[in-house]
Amino acid sequence: MTISHIVLPAPHAEFCLTPWLTHDPPRLVELMNIPSIVAGLSGNKNERITVELAVRHIQAVLEEKERWGYPILRYTRDVEVSEEPKMLGAISFFPFNFRALGQRSLKLCEEEKALPPEGRHWQFSCYVDPVISSKGLVTAATRWIIDNWFVPNHKSYPGQLVSSWFEPNKASQRVHDKLGFVGVARSVDWYEREKRNVDEDVICAVWQGAGECAKEDSVFRDLPSWSREEA
Ligand SMILES: CC(C)(COP(=O)(O)OP(=O)(O)OC[C@H]1O[C@@H](n2cnc3c(N)ncnc32)[C@H](O)[C@@H]1OP(=O)(O)O)[C@@H](O)C(=O)NCCC(=O)NCCS
Repeated sequence: MTISHIVLPAPHAEFCLTPWLTHDPPRLVELMNIPSIVAGLSGNKNERITVELAVRHIQAVLEEKERWGYPILRYTRDVEVSEEPKMLGAISFFPFNFRALGQRSLKLCEEEKALPPEGRHWQFSCYVDPVISSKGLVTAATRWIIDNWFVPNHKSYPGQLVSSWFEPNKASQRVHDKLGFVGVARSVDWYEREKRNVDEDVICAVWQGAGECAKEDSVFRDLPSWSREEA
């Protein structure tokens, strides 16, 4: 039986999006051990992910029904001919976790849980195997998800979709630029900073595709300002 998949529009039809599959955990571990991927993602850099942890992570993600359900990038041909097509990366859309707002994040998260999905703030995270990076793939796939799932299902008010990247991460900054995010604030209260053992600020950005939204009108209003000129 063919695995349910969404082929990306040309010129990226070589790639598609699928749900998580049961054979993915060891490959997730492999990807999470690539230094350039670890550097770009939030999380504990000192904790090595194991297959057991990967299984638990995927199970937890699958239980969050409101998430985007086709987050995994694969080769289209691979999906068509193999029962265990290789995972190439992931693009996850999920309710905003407010981590960039530090101590207040847990309380804000709880408050938003009472809202319907279209009322909540959302964020996305992404990573791809470096062997296929800089081909425009993550930008194209994320744009497809925004246009075909996020906007139609969430009505999308200005400021609803937000994101962030570690300041030195120029590839991520470029992806956000191309998608229409504008960096507005610098997070100096990132509660994972200590755990990650890194000394990098997080740049917080707001998607402008649903209408203009300045820092003052966004969830980042209380953070210090940041603008592209500082980059
Ligand atoms: C960030 C990431 C997801 C981008 O995926 P991708 O498929 O390579 O993205 P795209 O090809 O759509 O766009 C990347 C852009 O960054 C540019 N870029 C790459 N490295 C760069 C660098 N060091 N400095 C400036 N620009 C850079 C590319 O040239 C491209 O821009 P262009 O289309 O104008 O040429 C990928 O690099 C990755 O997985 N990084 C590790 C995990 C991570 O950082 N995730 C983001 C967390 S916020």
